[in-house]
Amino acid sequence: MMQSPIKRTKINHLLLSETPVDTLLVKGWVRTRRDARGFSFLEVNDGSCLKNIQVITGAELPNYTEIRKITTGSAIAVSGSLVASQGAGQKWEIHAEAVEIINLAPDNYPLQKKRHSDEFLRSIAHLRPRTNKYGAAFRLRSELSYAIHHFFKQRGFRYIHTPIITGSDCEGAGELFRVTTMEPGQRDFSLDFFGTEAGLTVSGQLNAEMFALSLGDVYTFGPTFRAENSNTSRHVAEFWMVEPEMAFCDLTGNMDFAEEMLQRLTSYMLENCFDDLELFARFVEKGLLTTLESIVNHPFERVTYAAAIKILADKGRKFQYPVEFGKDLQSEHERFLTEDLFRRPVIIFDYPKTIKPFYMRLNDDDHTVAAMDVLVPRVGEIIGGSQREERLEVLQTRMQEMGMNLQDYWWYIDSRRFGSVPHSGFGLGFERLLMLLTGISNIRDVIPFPRTPGGIDF
Ligand code: 4AD
Ligand code: MG
Repeated sequence: MMQSPIKRTKINHLLLSETPVDTLLVKGWVRTRRDARGFSFLEVNDGSCLKNIQVITGAELPNYTEIRKITTGSAIAVSGSLVASQGAGQKWEIHAEAVEIINLAPDNYPLQKKRHSDEFLRSIAHLRPRTNKYGAAFRLRSELSYAIHHFFKQRGFRYIHTPIITGSDCEGAGELFRVTTMEPGQRDFSLDFFGTEAGLTVSGQLNAEMFALSLGDVYTFGPTFRAENSNTSRHVAEFWMVEPEMAFCDLTGNMDFAEEMLQRLTSYMLENCFDDLELFARFVEKGLLTTLESIVNHPFERVTYAAAIKILADKGRKFQYPVEFGKDLQSEHERFLTEDLFRRPVIIFDYPKTIKPFYMRLNDDDHTVAAMDVLVPRVGEIIGGSQREERLEVLQTRMQEMGMNLQDYWWYIDSRRFGSVPHSGFGLGFERLLMLLTGISNIRDVIPFPRTPGGIDF
């Protein structure tokens, strides 16, 4: 075992070095090995950045015969020095003084140096972050999480941890996964762990509202679960949602905030993660940087649901699903609006109350609610939100109309009795935002271990 007195340096730091470095230690995984007479080149990646560092090892090393057997995927530790590279394409390289082989990968390591399909890589989700594309995707995911907290912190929002196990179905779509300790076949939920039916949350909103009505501006950012059996490229059963909730805020304020948030997050990523984003612009989605810059630089389009329906019907367009007032927009309709017609993000607002959940604020026309969806190119709906119904009587009437059991939501209703104020919020699908930012077209490829119907590997 090589005992090293120095701490390991990450490759991203080394590559930024201004000067040569005399002693360093790098640990990572070998991408390729090339041999020449009396020396070998190893391309090493440690996951800290897209780039590899080239390591030169020579016959003077005592284990050089072993080094010449190092395979793609092997883990090694290299100590040596950082010197200016003679070769083209890199500023620095490492001259190895010692190479420790931590683990030699056998020849059947699945990630050989060639392009693999996304489908294949999904089947080896435990190894795909070792590829350039998925390494970049998951570094971006990490940076984007940080950017979100940073954005809210700058604006004085408090981060609320809303529960994951819940007794209420916020969206009312019946997509809750059940949480139980009962034996299969048992039916009496009063005997269950919580004494009543429980499930995994579909949204932290109802809880977040209680905190907006106390702390002012709050947000949740956590895992969300939906047992919707739709095998699309934009749905997973477990995803992360960012949900701001703002007191003293109406629908217009909500739309303004959603627009600003998408713009700021996009520009943060362009400024801070350009190397990884550029990979996607080169190999995944050619127009990516243009799309992202246009999101940052142009105001979003805003149209009412009624106007959107009119546009979609007027165009005499052939859609697979018919366009009709009172029906939900299908993804083909949404994508037509944002990709073909307006060619920028579009906010649709004031939806018919019949297709939206109970908590949305009833408009004066009595048949639409103060809802808004943000649609973006290539992804479709990325944000769903609304102004909330803050009027006690109107809320109760609406819940009754929808056949809900008011007793189950007593605490939510109660909040409308004591200092109720206009308030608004929305949910931003974190994976969908990553799809927008990377051009990755399948949601399964922006989440480390996707959860979809029919399989739970990894
Ligand atoms: O439009 P949704 O259902 O809104 C809510 O849940 C509100 N309670 C949020 C709020 O107002 N606080 O979901 C919000 C977003 C969608 O626009 C979409 O981006 C994402 O969550 N989303 C999903 N992402 C991946 N897989 C799924 N199955 C998703 N369902 C929703
Ligand atoms: Mg929605």
